[in-house]
Amino acid sequence: MEDALMEAAVLVERRGGTLLLTLNRPERANALSRELVEALEAALTAAAADGSWRVCLLAAVGDKAFCAGADLKERALMSEEQVRAFVPRLQALASQLAGLDRPTIALVQGAALGGGLELALACDLRIAADEATLGLPEVQLGIIPGAGGTQRLARLVGVAKAKELIFMARRLSGTEAVAAGVSNASVPRAALLETGLAWAESVAKGAPLALIAAKRAIDEGIALPLGAGLAVERACSAPLVETADRVEALNAFREKRAPRFEGR
Ligand code: COA
Repeated sequence: MEDALMEAAVLVERRGGTLLLTLNRPERANALSRELVEALEAALTAAAADGSWRVCLLAAVGDKAFCAGADLKERALMSEEQVRAFVPRLQALASQLAGLDRPTIALVQGAALGGGLELALACDLRIAADEATLGLPEVQLGIIPGAGGTQRLARLVGVAKAKELIFMARRLSGTEAVAAGVSNASVPRAALLETGLAWAESVAKGAPLALIAAKRAIDEGIALPLGAGLAVERACSAPLVETADRVEALNAFREKRAPRFEGR
């Protein structure tokens, strides 16, 4: 069991209510080989079906790279047809991650390039090590970000900033990524996991159904005109009125204690 865990391309662990998924291919800078993609697809499918976690952290083994993007060595051996099929698969992988109904946080150390940054962008929040390197270098490889990067980066930091970063393949440090709005925070490498776990714990203080509704309202509403977005907000908000956790929060306030949420 221990050996199987050590060798798995994606490590799956629980820390209380936090699900920790860790890319485990450090000898290849956690580059997205077929094997790693398959393992992450399977881990995300299992995560989506498991209602028991509250926040998911996406991390990576090693100091060199969170994920160096597509496996360029494997890519060099692929036919055009195989590449044509694989790129949409990476996009679907990022969408699968973005589609998790509960909050997700990427913990980025070392290089997060191309598909690696695109995975981080598919998370709700990002925490980077100060000396991390974040970028979408695809145009310098004759391609464009194909795992959601052109869309998610532009929505995150605005059109002009996304174009600046993509056109010039800019590589941002963790601290620069915070200034650009790409990362929520940057911390020393040694504090990355601990900070991620603390953020997860802080997020998990929210009522589970409220967190799911908030994520959905923001994600579905952001691409819509304001009026339609407000309609999404109403639709996400209304069912919460009937929840036991809403009543529990009011009782806890009256009784001057922390609420005990049960996700119902
Ligand atoms: N695909 C396949 N292997 C990769 C890889 C990738 N995207 N990125 C790194 N590796 C491999 C390296 O080839 C090396 O293995 P080797 O020693 O057997 O050749 C190993 O991972 C470590 O990488 P190395 O370059 O020696 O480490 P570094 O610390 O000097 O640099 C990176 C790390 C990630 C910054 C650098 O390797 C890099 O820029 N990689 C390419 C990133 C990229 O352009 N990705 C594609 C985006 S579309």
